[in-house]
Amino acid sequence: MVALKTNDYQLIDAKPFAPNLGAEIYGVDLSRDVPDDQFAEIRDAFHKYQVLFFKDQKEIPPEQHVKFGKRFGPLHVHPAAPTMSGHPEIFEIHATKDSKIANGEFWHSDVSCDEKPPLGTMLQIHIAPPCGGDTMFSDMYAAYDGLSDPIKTLVDGLSALHSSEHIYKGRYSDRGKTDADIDCPQAVHPIVRTHPDTGRKSLFVNRTFTTKILGLSDSESDAVLAMLFEHTEHINYQIRFQWTLNDMAFWDNRCCMHRAIWDYWPEERKGRRVTIEGDRPK
Ligand code: SIN
Repeated sequence: MVALKTNDYQLIDAKPFAPNLGAEIYGVDLSRDVPDDQFAEIRDAFHKYQVLFFKDQKEIPPEQHVKFGKRFGPLHVHPAAPTMSGHPEIFEIHATKDSKIANGEFWHSDVSCDEKPPLGTMLQIHIAPPCGGDTMFSDMYAAYDGLSDPIKTLVDGLSALHSSEHIYKGRYSDRGKTDADIDCPQAVHPIVRTHPDTGRKSLFVNRTFTTKILGLSDSESDAVLAMLFEHTEHINYQIRFQWTLNDMAFWDNRCCMHRAIWDYWPEERKGRRVTIEGDRPK
């Protein structure tokens, strides 16, 4: 049996969610300003656990959500998604019986098609279906560590194109965003990136945005990407989070992927999402 990490903190309570990935965080009220010493522990836990689930929360006012996000760095504005009126940094996640899509239904790291993909994402859910609507996360450090040495050697030197036109075009038309209103960025990133804070290596490919490995033929690229997608989505690297109203999840896009499950139609699910600017993957 794997020993779970213990709570190392004085000002927050971090309860590990699974041996590799995730922690539930208790003892923090995100609807108010978080004191500096408590914030330092949250930041440490974010680097240790990759995704934090803040429990026992009240609804966080949009201004406070933006303010808390900015403590980790400047905020990222989504190139295509509908934003909250008066709050361009807030992406409203919303699915109803009339929606044609729910956001994030396939494995991805948020907006990995940007030159500088977001460091992390904070999502609070305000309207939850009676059951379902879970979010899955996959540990991309563990996925890299789980490759054999010859495949590590192969992918260590490779870069891949991340595109978004096939995802974003027409996607949000039912929410008032025409193709003229949006950007569809694309960028080339290393397949293996090193986390700027932890120094750990992780795989940085996902089936939503990663379309081609540079320097390989199309058939070689398709085969290697299919192998990497299947590997990174292995059940051993995953967790599945069941939301309670007003839970806030904060995930590190540099070392985990996520996927939202739309199993609750025709019920409604709604939340507010803030992303923090990242740097160019290295
Ligand atoms: C996303 O940000 O990709 C959606 C996550 C979710 O709705 O759970």
